[in-house]
Amino acid sequence: MASGANPEEQTVEARAGSANSAARLTWRDIRGPVRRRADDLIATEAEEASLEALRVATCETDGGMERHTVRQYLIAERIADTRHISYDRELLLCASFLHDAGLYSPASTGDVYIKDSARYARRTLEPFGWPQERLRVCLDACEQHHAFTTRWWLGPEVELVRLSDAVEVYPELRRSGIPRSWLKQELWQAVPRRGFWPATLEITRTHWRRMLPGMFRPPAPGQSDT
Ligand SMILES: [Fe+2]
Repeated sequence: MASGANPEEQTVEARAGSANSAARLTWRDIRGPVRRRADDLIATEAEEASLEALRVATCETDGGMERHTVRQYLIAERIADTRHISYDRELLLCASFLHDAGLYSPASTGDVYIKDSARYARRTLEPFGWPQERLRVCLDACEQHHAFTTRWWLGPEVELVRLSDAVEVYPELRRSGIPRSWLKQELWQAVPRRGFWPATLEITRTHWRRMLPGMFRPPAPGQSDT
């Protein structure tokens, strides 16, 4: 799915509609008082399977990690729309649901967690018969989401997950053009961050050995063994 064209020059509709076209929740629908859930985003079987896989991994529904992925996905959508970046919605949503799943025992092999996230995404999505290139972009989005430098050249979805995850986790440090007022008054009300930091600190305390290599030494693109 990696494109040689400048993503800034592409139209959103060109690829966003390729996976599905039915109306469903987008970032533009977010209104603070209206509670939103991951199920509101689902439109395809692959998306449904990815959400179910996340729920199996975390052993909960609408839990802190699930809400993190929903916020991160909606932020990614907004970044893409604001910059007029084309993306594959189904791929982006599946990657968003699964990018942190490797932290949890059902998805873990004990390896660096971003690699396990990619492996879990492969197991989840292979039954859907995606072209290898498309599946690779999704796995790269999981495996490269802590990279320090841009990953546009691996596919817009890879970079969108990287950018949006940083905004979601560190909104005081990284904003990628997302207004803090929208985060605070709309997104964080519609998809609450309640419990986010205690859960994040607990995950970090428990899994830091499997997190740090992925965060500070992202694997070289093209050399993945996932
Ligand atoms: Fe994340």
